[in-house]
Amino acid sequence: MKTPIKSIKELIHELLNMSVDNTYGSVMKRVDIDPLDFEPYISWNEDHHTRNLLYKCSEFELLLACSLPHQKTAIHNYGHQQGWAVVISGEMTEVRFLGSESFNSVVEISKNILKPGSVSYINDYQGLHQFINSNDGKTLTLHLFVLPFERYKKYNTETEEFEEVPISYDNDFRDEFK
Ligand SMILES: [Fe+2]
Repeated sequence: MKTPIKSIKELIHELLNMSVDNTYGSVMKRVDIDPLDFEPYISWNEDHHTRNLLYKCSEFELLLACSLPHQKTAIHNYGHQQGWAVVISGEMTEVRFLGSESFNSVVEISKNILKPGSVSYINDYQGLHQFINSNDGKTLTLHLFVLPFERYKKYNTETEEFEEVPISYDNDFRDEFK
């Protein structure tokens, strides 16, 4: 059993100083951070889940997402990068899709409930995904993006078209983890 990672600062340190036999996935699987450690970076918005940036460098980006009951992300891709997500508290449903921009369509392929400690991984070759807070409680998820990306594509279920979306944050806490 590898040593658990107990704080956000420790996680950033591990991600910045990975040995060659380590991977981002193996580091994320060691995350065992008390939800209280995230308390200062939590924000809620009645209209949408919030994206709270914790750390960003040329190699990766770390973000805390806060979702009220029944809030969901768009169906989105990863701008040719990779993403890991860990549930910190609550519960999150991840729905996966295969999608084709040339046909402007997506097909649901799986649905998985992630509990605290579960780690999900995705890249564009695996398809698209959507996170839905399908339980009645608030959910915190920690996201690692490698490399950081400036834009991605979402599938608009109303127009049935893919749309390019620039990255935006509700809060930026980078100064706290310098
Ligand atoms: Fe995602």
